[in-house]
Amino acid sequence: MYDERGSHLFEEITRIPEYYPTAAEREILLAYSADIAERCGAEALVELGPGASDKTIALIDALAEAGTLRSYTGVDVAGEALRDSLGSLCERFPDLEVTGVVGDFTCDLDRVPTGDNRLIVFLGGTVGNLGPAERASFLSMVAKKLSPGEGLLLGVDLVKDPARLLAAYDDADGITAEFEKNVLAVVNRSLDADFDLDRFEYQARWDSELLEVRMSLRSVGAQTVSLGALDMRLDLDDGEEIHTESSYKFTRDGIAAELEQAGFVTMGLWTDPCADFAVVLAQRASSTEPLVGMPQHGGATKQAGTVAPPSPDIHSYHAVRTATEALAAPLSPEDQTVQTMPDVSPTKWHRAHVTWFFEQFVLMPHRDGYRPVDERYLYLWNSYYEGAGPRHPRPDRGHISRPGVGEVTAYRDTVDEAMHDLLCREPSPAVLRLIELGLHHEQQHQELLLMDIKHVLGTNPLKPAYRLTRPPAAAPAGSLSWTRHEGGVEEIGVNSGEHFAFDNESPRHRVYLDPFEIADRLVTVGEWLEFVDDGGYQRPELWLSDGWAWLSSSPGAPRQAPLYWWCEDGVWWAYTLYGPAPIDPALPVVHVSYYEADAFARWAGARLPTEEEWEAVASRQAEPSAPAIALHPDTAVESGITQLYGSAWQWTSSAYLPYPGFEPAAGAVGEYNGKFMVGQHVLRGGAAITPPGHTRVTYRNFFPPAAQWPMTGVRLARNSD
Ligand SMILES: C[S@@+](CC[C@H](N)C(=O)[O-])C[C@H]1O[C@@H](n2cnc3c(N)ncnc32)[C@H](O)[C@@H]1O
Repeated sequence: MYDERGSHLFEEITRIPEYYPTAAEREILLAYSADIAERCGAEALVELGPGASDKTIALIDALAEAGTLRSYTGVDVAGEALRDSLGSLCERFPDLEVTGVVGDFTCDLDRVPTGDNRLIVFLGGTVGNLGPAERASFLSMVAKKLSPGEGLLLGVDLVKDPARLLAAYDDADGITAEFEKNVLAVVNRSLDADFDLDRFEYQARWDSELLEVRMSLRSVGAQTVSLGALDMRLDLDDGEEIHTESSYKFTRDGIAAELEQAGFVTMGLWTDPCADFAVVLAQRASSTEPLVGMPQHGGATKQAGTVAPPSPDIHSYHAVRTATEALAAPLSPEDQTVQTMPDVSPTKWHRAHVTWFFEQFVLMPHRDGYRPVDERYLYLWNSYYEGAGPRHPRPDRGHISRPGVGEVTAYRDTVDEAMHDLLCREPSPAVLRLIELGLHHEQQHQELLLMDIKHVLGTNPLKPAYRLTRPPAAAPAGSLSWTRHEGGVEEIGVNSGEHFAFDNESPRHRVYLDPFEIADRLVTVGEWLEFVDDGGYQRPELWLSDGWAWLSSSPGAPRQAPLYWWCEDGVWWAYTLYGPAPIDPALPVVHVSYYEADAFARWAGARLPTEEEWEAVASRQAEPSAPAIALHPDTAVESGITQLYGSAWQWTSSAYLPYPGFEPAAGAVGEYNGKFMVGQHVLRGGAAITPPGHTRVTYRNFFPPAAQWPMTGVRLARNSD
């Protein structure tokens, strides 16, 4: 990509008006280089993919001013461009020892000098050209090359309005198109190929789930290309695409979590005034093993004993709001209106209710002159907040055919504009905290939206799929094994203010645990089938009294299998968001009630873990990474304790009660959790429909014991000597 012409074209791209990253990153470096220099005190700068290295000058100036910097090394595949930029640096900084490595930064870092306190500088958002897996291994490779205390300065482009993103990657003058097509020219030269550049059209697409701008070249008409050096012919259909490049975008929490996972500790994060772009300073931690038990939100930049400020900004706001719309996008207006049972809310209602939350709790009290979009919406979209006034009954949400889906979209847009405006005016920490709560609330509803639409589609006799492309067949599950925990005094929960957590996770407190053992994976469908075949649903000695009564209560009686299972000609089937299919014994069982989980555990000669046992075990494991929503859990393939997050919420035997010293949040939002602390059980972990980054080790989900429609599963525990 970066031959001489490619490097030249990239420089041109950095000057086009739509391409904001270069100017934004330059602005950050000009404003904050002194701060960065003070925090890292680097003696040697190593710049990966420096290109013209002109933005780096501000940083070199600051480090020179601080009196620490001795050397600069550039590592770039583009030899010519590297020579030019090193030449300019030598002229500008005659006292600096300037060297270059013409090589690949993914595999040639051993050629970089060692010994001084180094800062690896990787600007331009180039790290976003690597996909998530590639990036994870690249970042941990970089961490391993550094000594503890050495630094990494990373420029990352932040998630933003898709229209602006796409304009930046598909400029009106077609320079990006020329840059991408240059790839074909390079292949023509290096592989003796005959791509006709005029027979390809450039296009850029935004994938809001993967946070990826995906660039490709589309064949204009069917054509055959020969690649002489490979003795190969390539037949392309009309419209067939060649993927040339991806540019991944980031949220602040997302990049901090990736750095932590790779073995870094984030020391600072700076953005331009519009928060289009971020520069992150991270330090190699003393061990490059993934850090265990690190908090997820704001934890990276937190000093011990301080209270992290709330972190929402325009971009995290829009990222969460866009993610909700992406989940609703495959659904028709009819799909979005149906309510199949009182617990299920229509998609349209979720989209409106989370918007009402911002209107009711943020805009009305905190934005001068704000008037509700429609006074009637305050009644229609309130869920259970008595303090916010009367509301429409929950079981009747499916009766609201008007306002329609289009009006709900317009409602969202209007509130988003007002929120955007509010966020631009530097709201107070108290307002930011409410916005942060609103975003976590919306993520909870993203999961509810999927739970609910699964019930809508899964109870439709036609059983339509929410998503058609099925994941590949699951690998077989390994046999279940147990991990012993010594017991003793454990600390559970989180102190409020440390990082974002719901009020029910506080305060942190001590508990005493007897020794116990916990299963290393969730119970599988195959194991559940053994329970069914052994008459598990017909044996009263296995069931709690309420559970036994529930088996024969309607609707749903007589219950003899998890929700969404049915038997046809002796074969068990299950509905998943990918549509109906015969059950797969390797997958974790999901959609079982507390009653079923408890009966199964008794049948298996075990019990359910308490929430304290679960947290004591989970706090010794890595925190959840942020995979995309998978829609259905997969088999456990790793060793050790697996499937804590991202598979199924795990029932615990613990009643949902306040922690000692619990105090609900002040005001109407105090109704969020505390008032539900009776008659429910705690579930821990997270499910395959939980939004990435939403859950954490202290997270307490809760449902009544009969609930099957959440994505619930079972992890067993047992007593130990
Ligand atoms: C997007 S440009 C960024 C240039 C500069 N850092 C900036 O911020 O403007 C990417 C740079 O990385 C270099 N590059 C891309 N892939 C590389 C690799 N695998 N190894 C070394 N250099 C690479 C290119 O030659 C180019 O100079």
